[in-house]
Formats: sequence, C-alpha cells, structure tokens
Amino acid sequence: MSEKPWGGRFESPTDEFVEAFNASTDVDARMYAEDIAGSKAHARMLCEQGILTQEDLNSILRGLDEVLGEIESGEFKFTIALEDVHMNIESQLTKKIGDAGKRLHTARSRNDQVATDTRLYLRSRTDTMIHRIRRLQSVLLTLAGTHADTIMPGFTHLQTAQPVTLGHHLLAYVEMFDRDACRFADARTRMNQCPLGSAALAGTTFNIDRFKTAESLGFDGPTRNSLDSVSDRDFIMELMAAASICAVHLSRFSEELIQWMSAQFNFVDLPDAFCTGSSIMPQKKNPDMPELVRGKSGRIIGGLVAILTTMKGLPLAYNKDMQEDKTAIFDAFDNLEGCLRVFGDMLPGMSVNSEVMHTAASSGFATATDLADALVRAGVPFRDAHEIVGKSVGHCIKAGIELHEMDESACSNIDARLSADMVRLLSVENCVAARNHIGGTAPDQVRKQVAEWNTRLESQ
Ligand code: ARG
Repeated sequence: MSEKPWGGRFESPTDEFVEAFNASTDVDARMYAEDIAGSKAHARMLCEQGILTQEDLNSILRGLDEVLGEIESGEFKFTIALEDVHMNIESQLTKKIGDAGKRLHTARSRNDQVATDTRLYLRSRTDTMIHRIRRLQSVLLTLAGTHADTIMPGFTHLQTAQPVTLGHHLLAYVEMFDRDACRFADARTRMNQCPLGSAALAGTTFNIDRFKTAESLGFDGPTRNSLDSVSDRDFIMELMAAASICAVHLSRFSEELIQWMSAQFNFVDLPDAFCTGSSIMPQKKNPDMPELVRGKSGRIIGGLVAILTTMKGLPLAYNKDMQEDKTAIFDAFDNLEGCLRVFGDMLPGMSVNSEVMHTAASSGFATATDLADALVRAGVPFRDAHEIVGKSVGHCIKAGIELHEMDESACSNIDARLSADMVRLLSVENCVAARNHIGGTAPDQVRKQVAEWNTRLESQ
C-alpha cells in the first residue's frame, strides 16, 4: 500500500513543496483529543451496529488510547506527509493494530471528521471563554461596588457631559460582557449538532446510527443534512463574530484606560506588573496591556473577515479552502482568552484617583442639564430653560466661575426665572443621586445593580 491513505489512484509522488503547503498539522494537531474521542465514538457505534467486530473495537480503543498517551507525552511525531491530524492518528493506529485500524474509517470521511473535531474543540474552548468573561465581570462588579460613590465626568464627544459614578461606568462594561457571554453561549447551542456520519457529502451506505454517535459525543443530536454538515462553517463565523464583538468591547475599555492613565487625565494608575517602561525616557510607565489588547482586536476582526471571505464563494460541499478556517479562529480564541485574562488580573490592582475624578467632574459645567431641569420644574419650557442655562454658562466662562457660584444679580440679569436658590443646589453629588431609576447613575442604583449581578453570576 502507498504511504498516503489516498495514494491508490496516483502514479507519481506529491511535489515536495506541495506536501508542506498542503499540510495542516501545525494548525490542527491541537485537535488530537477531539479526533480520538470522535474516532472512539464512531468505532463504538460501528460495533453496536454490527459493522465492526467486538475484537476490532477493542483493538481500536486500546490503540487510540496508546496514541493519545504518545501525543500527550510528546513522543508522537506528526508528519506533513500525512497531511493532517486525522491521517496522522489513523496511520499510527494502523501501525499499532493492523487491519482493525484500517477499518476505523468505514462510513466516515475526513470531511465529516474535521467538521466534528472542530465543533468539539471549539465547544470546549467556548465554555472556557464564557468562564473567562464571567470572571472578568465579577472583577468589574467588585470594583463597581467599591466605586459606587466615586464621581467622575461622563463624556459625549469626549467633552464633559454630565457627572456619572465610576461604578456606573464599569457596570456598562458588565452589560457588554454579558451580551458577549450570551452570544458565545447562543452560538454554542447552534453548533452543538453532530456532523459525523455525513461521510464525504452524501451520507453512507452502511446502517449507521448517527443518534448514538451524536449522543456519546455530547451533541444535542445529529445534523440533518449531510451536504450542509460538511459544508457549514457558520459556527466558526458566529464564534468569530462573537469574539470580534467582545474584542471591540475590550478595545474600547482599553482606550479609556489608556486615556485615564495619561498625565492629562490622571484618573487611574495601572499596576506596575502590567505596565512597561521606556528604554530612553526614564519617567515613562506605559499602559502596554490595554494597548496590546486594543491592538489584538484588529487581528481578531481580521480573522472574522478572513473566514467570511473564504466561505462566500464556495460551492457545496467540502472544498480545500475550508482548511483555512481553523487558523483564524484558533488565533482569535487564543488571543481573546489572553485579553480577558490580562484584564481580569490587572483591574483589581488599578488605583483610582477619586479626587482628581471629582475635580474633573466639577468643572466643565457638567451640572448644566440639571439646572435646565430645575427651571423646567419651576414651569419654564425645556427649550427656554436650555437657552437660559446656555447664557449662564457663557456668563460663567467670562467670569471664570462655576454655575453654582452665580449670585442673585447675575441670575436675574440673565433671566427673571433663574434664581440663586436654583444654582446653589447644583453639585455633582446631587446630579448623580438624582438619577435614581433603573439604568441611572445614582450610587444607590449602582449598589442595587451590583447586588443583582452578583446573584445572577452565582446562579450561572
Ligand atoms: N485537513 C482538512 C481540513 O482541515 C481535513 C479535511 C480534508 N478533506 C479532504 N477531502 N481533503 O479541512
């Protein structure tokens, strides 16, 4: 028999460069455990269906365990001549147990095999990802609880808008990460269908039981269309989309931390263990981790575009282009997991300059909306109130004072409906405390949300 499992119809050997170019072991070898688990489930089913003898099954199971041991101990040498993880393992199995090894591929193709392995592998990586996201959420909840009363400026257009609490700001990320975790969980549900038994594309002539294989591999059931089973890479696209969105959230958070750590903001300081210095400027402490996380998001988004572009022109069913599906998603998962880990480890050590934040929130006329609201409560139509406060801000800028510092004559000069009593009540504390409804920035709301989130996370 020729060295290649498919070599029968070939007369001349594969070009040397093509052999390396064609091989995917450097990428797919990491799916060895899933490949072996899939083979075991397939073999058991074949035996139960009377397609394999019990003796052959025993040899296959024993042989696969030995191969697993060899891979895990580092003894196993993957060879590019055998293209991919599937043929490397099968060939080693056959070397060990002879003909029984050659029978394993009955009623199976690498097309349904790779689709199954990839789903199994990504399923467990998705579980880990969800776990990492939940862990980051719980770190954020602790910080949000600590900073329920810490007041900072809230921005729109990066201009001071209204005061908010830092706890509230952090809870915004808790919400984003929740949607991320849910997106991963949702994609996991959809991908948890077993393609095994679809064979090359059309199914098989053997009397297989696809429900059995699906169940023993922890799938919810078998896929329903063999062509779709071997062609579908939606699950990779979905996971890449979920990963990209999560990476975008981390990137926005990174951007804020980078701004907040600058001397100009001076809102926070990140722990030394997560920063680096400059080889020339002795004073520097750079926020490399958020910068790198922000950078990784570009690479992860690139991976999403790569898989979408790879798939968009492919006819049914399997095409070799699809071998490229794993590179981007493995890279994305490795990197996103790293980003989530770095953030989860770094944030508890972040120090917050509450005073600086408070001072920043107290300047820039962040309480202006509240003054307009006070006028509205006194019966002034909102558009008039807006105009009056706008004029007041103009006055304060010229006078170099804050809104609450305006005296009675300054107020009445602007508009008879404006009074010193109204402006006197303006404070960032009052501003945040007044927004005391679900979704609002009030410290009480932050504490309530933190408690609710902690309960939700505990039950997950
Ligand atoms: N290494 C291949 C991949 O990752 C496995 C499937 C190959 N199937 C085939 N008919 N060449 O896509």
